[in-house]
Amino acid sequence: MSDPPTGPGNGSGPQTETGTGPGPQTGTGTGPGPQTRSASDPLLFFVNGKKIVEKDADPETTLLTYLRRKLGLTGTKLGCAEGGCGACTVMLSRFQPHTHQLLHYAVNACLAPLCSLHLVAVTTVEGHRATRLEGAQGRDRR
Ligand code: FES
Repeated sequence: MSDPPTGPGNGSGPQTETGTGPGPQTGTGTGPGPQTRSASDPLLFFVNGKKIVEKDADPETTLLTYLRRKLGLTGTKLGCAEGGCGACTVMLSRFQPHTHQLLHYAVNACLAPLCSLHLVAVTTVEGHRATRLEGAQGRDRR
């Protein structure tokens, strides 16, 4: 699979907690494809540093729908809904077990299936903004 993961899910409410990001994964692929999990395993991913566990993720839900409707993160916008405008762009970060490095890449959340995000860290504009503010505050204190 070469398509990057995207898309929201729509199961029962998500469980969130503060996390430290995705840990090592067991996938053996060479690209940013989804990591393996069985159908009975809950979907586990991170959004702006918060751990999300979805036990009944809807395979038809896109990441954009999930971010906006389930998590209330409306900074990621719906434009064309077909991958043409970029209004829904988010950053995904995935651990690459073969290189032991994090791979960061941009995806259109309107096209990304939620179920493809197992062990992936998602950064939205809200997460990017928080990081920038923390950095600016750190510079002001020096
Ligand atoms: S809404 Fe236009 S690319 Fe996703």
